[in-house]
Amino acid sequence: MKHLSMKALRTIVFILIAKNCFAQYNTLVIPDTLSGATINLTVKDTFAQLRKGNQTITAAVNNNTFWGPTLILHNGDTVHMNVLNKLNDSTTMHWHGMHLPGVMDGGPHQIIPPGTLWQPYWKVTNSATTLWYHPHLMDMTLQQLIAGVGGFIIIRDSLEATLALPRTYGVDDIPLALTSRSYDGSNQFLITDMNTVSQYGDYMLTNGTPKAQYNIPKQVVRFRVLNAEVMRGYNLGFSDNRSFYVIGNDQGLLNAPAPVTRFYLMPGERIEILADFSKDVVGDTLDMNAFNSGLPSGFPGGDTNKHGLNGSLLNDTTFTVLHINISATTTHPITKIPAKLANNVYWTAKDATVKRNFFVTNGAGVGLKQYLFNDTAYNFNQINEHVQQNAIEQWTIADNYFNTHTFHIHDVQFKIIYRSQSSFGYADTVQSYESGWKDNVFVSKGDTVVVIAKFMDLADSLHPFMFHCHMINHEQGGMMGQFTVSPGTVGINEVQSVPFNYTLFPNPASNRLYIQFADPNSRAYYITITDMLGRVKYMLPYPELSKGIDVSTLATGEYLLQLTDDKTKRTTTRKFIKQ
Ligand code: C2O
Ligand code: CU
Repeated sequence: MKHLSMKALRTIVFILIAKNCFAQYNTLVIPDTLSGATINLTVKDTFAQLRKGNQTITAAVNNNTFWGPTLILHNGDTVHMNVLNKLNDSTTMHWHGMHLPGVMDGGPHQIIPPGTLWQPYWKVTNSATTLWYHPHLMDMTLQQLIAGVGGFIIIRDSLEATLALPRTYGVDDIPLALTSRSYDGSNQFLITDMNTVSQYGDYMLTNGTPKAQYNIPKQVVRFRVLNAEVMRGYNLGFSDNRSFYVIGNDQGLLNAPAPVTRFYLMPGERIEILADFSKDVVGDTLDMNAFNSGLPSGFPGGDTNKHGLNGSLLNDTTFTVLHINISATTTHPITKIPAKLANNVYWTAKDATVKRNFFVTNGAGVGLKQYLFNDTAYNFNQINEHVQQNAIEQWTIADNYFNTHTFHIHDVQFKIIYRSQSSFGYADTVQSYESGWKDNVFVSKGDTVVVIAKFMDLADSLHPFMFHCHMINHEQGGMMGQFTVSPGTVGINEVQSVPFNYTLFPNPASNRLYIQFADPNSRAYYITITDMLGRVKYMLPYPELSKGIDVSTLATGEYLLQLTDDKTKRTTTRKFIKQ
């Protein structure tokens, strides 16, 4: 080195930098992780260097510049979320696939204004699986998802912990959020206008990384793959056409691994797969691809056109979602694909006491130009379905119209019991690779799918659960409905023995504010705290009042506390002083 002139050294440094900036591939971003009893998520506007030239205005969670941390939660634990909205717009944060009360679900009714802290909490009852969180604000889900807001949730449980599966995050257990974007001339994301700007992105992003590559050890590796797209489906596989093993659908492990060489993953769906690299040679490369050329008519993103409403440079092509460099085996590798996984016992048609039908319609019947369910566009103020708590129901989704859709139901897990012989070449039986618990299912053109679900968590009409197509332009266009889940006793206990009343103390308060109910059986359904200019500071669903409300971070001054009573859902307002 010491013989090199300064000039030569500079040239070398320049070449190294240039190689990094304009490399054929970029190292896959592995999102940081958060776990524990309290999780802080700050949603904010930011910038990301996604291409040469200008940075792209993005939005993300915590210190990321696109997407957010992976939350690692354990079945049986109670988790408290502090979601702080630092965007310039309102948002919501939905825990996709999570079993929780409707008031914690973060759907369109749970609007978090800018500057507000939302504090939902719940006991994790999902089995080990891969979920995700994302915004769900009416008319803004598309924009905020495109900007980059979202993240993975990994649930662990005691059964999964006993299995010989890869679970070293970022090493042999790799999350992959697949999406694509288009850019304008100054590198800003394009958002479809449903006219000339396409619904389909031109450039692939994997965990927000353009042209992603990663070192994958020479052993059995697990990938948790999320289709985080706006609209596109992925026909996943490996460039050498090797088999891989589906071990989990949206809501958890299958009973046994299902070998496949290709897998259709539609927007909002997840799969966990195992791939065996133990016979590969260190230094070799291969690709995980979307084999999206020559797909059946109606496959989302399968059109041949490169421009226009459904056009994309990725349409009708095979493209790489992850470039894989085979690297050295780790110290405790998994070397075999297990023969057995979970012991799920699934509900069958015989268990179902209620049947509902959802027909995909094209809006013509009601004078609209958008896909709908049952010719009914989403209406924020209209409850479409009423479900009794603990009911096992059979829902049929039938699509006679052009185009593929998905059907996602909040809160529940369902079992697909029937899929008609479809234009996508599926037989009229449910294949082993989609035999596990699901929360989102694709329904291809002309297809009928029947699912069975049990509705265990409550949701009232103030915070109902959603069902919708997870292709975001369809969802945002009105292909969504909402349902309540009510206990059997609804309407009986509405009269209280003591008139609803409470006192706030101490007032003024400096750290914690306590509430004493006149009737000890009273419960607060919701508390919001706003300043005197009407700006919402805290949103507390089912606040745990025995601990008091932490007001220590409020600036000194006067505030209004609005308390909604659980029984009557009536809201009363009291003033308090923060000192
Ligand atoms: Cu991924 Cu209604 O949600
Ligand atoms: Cu749709």
